[in-house]
Amino acid sequence: MSLQHVLVMGASGGIGLAIAEQLSAMKDMKTLVLCAAHATASPALKTLGETCHARGIHAMIIDVDVSDESSLANLVSSLKESVPTMDLVVNTAGLLHGPDLAPEKSITQISASAMQRIFAVNAFGPILLAQAIWPWLRAKKPVVFASLSARVGSIADNRLGGWYGYRAAKAAQNQFLKTMAIELARLNPSSIVLALHPGTTDTALSRPFQAGVAAEKLFTTEFVATRLLQLIANATPADSGSFVAWDGQTIAW
Ligand SMILES: NC(=O)c1ccc[n+]([C@@H]2O[C@H](COP(=O)([O-])OP(=O)(O)OC[C@H]3O[C@@H](n4cnc5c(N)ncnc54)[C@H](OP(=O)(O)O)[C@@H]3O)[C@@H](O)[C@H]2O)c1
Repeated sequence: MSLQHVLVMGASGGIGLAIAEQLSAMKDMKTLVLCAAHATASPALKTLGETCHARGIHAMIIDVDVSDESSLANLVSSLKESVPTMDLVVNTAGLLHGPDLAPEKSITQISASAMQRIFAVNAFGPILLAQAIWPWLRAKKPVVFASLSARVGSIADNRLGGWYGYRAAKAAQNQFLKTMAIELARLNPSSIVLALHPGTTDTALSRPFQAGVAAEKLFTTEFVATRLLQLIANATPADSGSFVAWDGQTIAW
C-alpha cells in the first residue's frame, strides 16, 4: 500500500509522535495531518512540521478535541480545503490518568464524572472521529482506519480487575470499531478498520504504572510505531474489524 495522505490523531503523544515521525520519512508521503488536543502547543510537532516542509510534505498541525463534535467539524472544514483523499487515519488519542484523574483500583473509587472523561476520549473519540471523516473513509478506494485500543479492554482477558473506566471505555471502543467496520465494508469494500494494542510502551500515559513491568516488556515508542505501521501495511480488508496486538496476535474481545 502506498501511503501518501495520512492523518494522525494524538500526534503529540508518545506513540502518535513516533508514528508521525516514521510516516514523515516514507518516500511517497505527500500530506500529513497532525492533530491532538494541544497540537499547536507541541514543540515536537513544530519540529516535525519543519522536517516535513524540508521533505516536501504538506504538514497540517491542527488542534482537535476528539470528544468535541464542533472541534471535529473544524477539522473537517480544514480537510475539505486541501485533503481530497486519505490513505490512512491513525487514532492514538487516549486518556488514562491526569492531575485529578487516576484509574480505579476498587469500585469504591468510581465516579461518574471521571468515567465520563475517560469514555469521552477512549470510547466516543474514535467513533466521532470516524463519523467526522466518513466521506474520506467511504470513498471507494483503499483506506485504513486504525485506532489504538488496549489489551485491558478485552473482556476475555480480564484476569486482574481494576481500571474500571479505562477497561470499559476501550471495550466500548472495540465494539464501536467492529460495528463501523461492518458498515464501512458495505460502502467501501477496500476499507480496513483495526483496533490495535501497542503493548506497554514508555510514554507519559504508562509512566506511573511501569514499576512492575519487566524491562524487556516495556517498549520504546520507536519500536511500537514500527510494529504498528508494519501491521497496518500488511493488513487486508479481510482483517477489517479485528483487534490485534503489536506482534500480530489477534486478541479475544
Ligand atoms: N503507552 C502504553 O503503554 C499503552 C498501552 C496500551 C494502549 N495504549 C493506548 O495507546 C494510545 C496512545 O497512548 P500514548 O501512550 O502514546 O499516550 P500519551 O503519550 O499520553 O499521548 C496521548 C495523546 O492523546 C492526545 N489526546 C488526549 N486527549 C485528547 C482529546 N480529547 N482529543 C485529541 N487528542 C487527545 C494527547 O494530546 P495532547 O497532549 O495535545 O493533549 C496526546 O497526543 C492511547 O489510546 C492509549 O490508551 C497505550
